[in-house]
Amino acid sequence: MTYKIAVLPGDGIGPEITEQAVKVLKALEKDGLSVELEYAAVGGAGYREQGHPLPPETLEVCKRSQAVLFGAVGDFSLDSLPRHLRPEQAILGLRKELNLFANFRPALVYEELADASSLKPEVIAGLDILIIRELTGDIYFGKPRGIHIVEEGPFKGQREGYDTMRYAESEISRIGHVAFQAARKRNRRLCSVDKANVLETTQLWRDVMIELGREYPDVELSHMYVDNCAMQLLKNPKQFDVVVTGNMFGDILSDEASMLTGSIGMLPSASLNEHGFGLYEPIHGSAPDIAGKDLANPLATILSAAMMLRYTFGQEAHATRIERAVKHVLANGPRTPDLWVEGKAKVGTQAMGDAVVQALAAV
Ligand code: IPM
Ligand code: MG
Repeated sequence: MTYKIAVLPGDGIGPEITEQAVKVLKALEKDGLSVELEYAAVGGAGYREQGHPLPPETLEVCKRSQAVLFGAVGDFSLDSLPRHLRPEQAILGLRKELNLFANFRPALVYEELADASSLKPEVIAGLDILIIRELTGDIYFGKPRGIHIVEEGPFKGQREGYDTMRYAESEISRIGHVAFQAARKRNRRLCSVDKANVLETTQLWRDVMIELGREYPDVELSHMYVDNCAMQLLKNPKQFDVVVTGNMFGDILSDEASMLTGSIGMLPSASLNEHGFGLYEPIHGSAPDIAGKDLANPLATILSAAMMLRYTFGQEAHATRIERAVKHVLANGPRTPDLWVEGKAKVGTQAMGDAVVQALAAV
């Protein structure tokens, strides 16, 4: 079986980090993995090459693949373009077009990195949280939205910006099922995060989660307001097993959770549709300030490739092998600047990729 993967390097550090993940996938070929890669332009790169952040050809390449390996998009120099042409629209468009509603963002603290976090080691040692973020609804996509001139009232004549937070019942329940099932494979605790004390949309979210909970009596369901969750993540992050939340809150909480682990350069993610088709990307962005300098940490992208092998291809053994190789490098090998500590060799993006490839032989 040869797996077809669309590779979308994107902008900034995107190309250099995806190159390392590709290197790792290729290295597994001698152990029986077979992949066929098709590259396509996306984000600022898509705009420059084909006039759109998500060129139709790129979408086609994704649709004829079984999974997408995505680098990062974002390019400050294009921020003055109309919104629909900005690089970020590429990832939003892909999520919507490919119906990637379920976003898995694990935050795992490697014991080797417990001292890289800005929190005390005892607060985060052994941390293993899975944030499940709804990815195709909410205020990100709700209509109406826009900027208009107010016609009456105290703000008459002024410009006003507005977006709409909305969730239909079925959108909530399908992500709810995904989350309950994920919790079943872990420690059977699910915390649903909302702002039900203020927002109607999330009152419905909570009601639906409670209804679904009756189908999963073996999973302990709890609820938390998003502001409290932001606080609890810093105070006592180990209380969480699986967290499920909407698109907007999930965006914010997953960045926060990533920092518990020491470096945002470590966190992979999977965005799945209901058939297991997935887009895999590091949760960090395009980091234009360090792009092209061989400074970026490629581990989040390499770990995203591992998630792809697990979730879309069912290749658990190859997936674990990549994860073990990464652990091996963290314990014994060199570090990129974001993770570097006294006593370790400091290396660049390329050498870090090579180190993981070499470590595959040791695990
Ligand atoms: C993320 C990013 C995106 C989001 C941006 C790039 C549109 O922050 O994947 O978390 O807001 O979802
Ligand atoms: Mg984000």
